[in-house]
Amino acid sequence: MHAPSPQIRRFQAGDEPALFRVFFTAIHQVASRDYTQQQVDAWAPPDMDAVQWTARMRGIQPFVAQLGDEIVGYADLQPSGYIDQFFVSGAHPRQGIGRLLLARIHEEAMRVGVVELTSDVSLTAEPFFAHHGFEVVQRQQPLRRGVVLANARMRKALAPPISPSAPAPA
Ligand SMILES: CC(C)(COP(=O)(O)OP(=O)(O)OC[C@H]1O[C@@H](n2cnc3c(N)ncnc32)[C@H](O)[C@@H]1OP(=O)(O)O)[C@@H](O)C(=O)NCCC(=O)NCCS
Repeated sequence: MHAPSPQIRRFQAGDEPALFRVFFTAIHQVASRDYTQQQVDAWAPPDMDAVQWTARMRGIQPFVAQLGDEIVGYADLQPSGYIDQFFVSGAHPRQGIGRLLLARIHEEAMRVGVVELTSDVSLTAEPFFAHHGFEVVQRQQPLRRGVVLANARMRKALAPPISPSAPAPA
């Protein structure tokens, strides 16, 4: 029997605490393979300000992966093509949830005419993004709460949509 597949839907007000649990477990249970305890604590502090977090999620309006009643992942697409956050719950790794979220982002990019996706990708997520056709543009050492967290700017060019009104090639 196949495991049930998560549904991908748009963000709704009220999702914020569940999105924080996804963010926190993704970093503390999965990204902790590639980052030290000091780094994961700086990236995802357990006492994250709830007001700030809520404002952040309402600002980026992510797609949300829901499995039954449980939110198991989220990822956004900004109008510029930038993916600000991309996280799958630490309790649901390697179950295809990231793949579904990225497919939804590709669909949305086509819909709104985004021609290039970019993201600042963690060392942990880099193989996932590379697997999906992203390439590293630059390696970076940004500071988060005073701690260096290595990541990479990655990009993927998308084929422009075919316009039905474009002239036929000669
Ligand atoms: C990166 C992340 C989003 C991937 O989500 P996921 O749901 O586990 O990924 P999927 O199951 O959809 O993976 C699809 C394919 O990508 C590749 N892939 C995913 N994670 C990988 C990894 N760590 N190493 C190598 N390949 C990987 C695999 O080919 C995988 O297919 P397979 O499992 O059949 O081999 C998730 O691991 C995560 O949240 N990590 C920690 C937090 C983080 O760093 N987030 C990104 C911040 S930019």
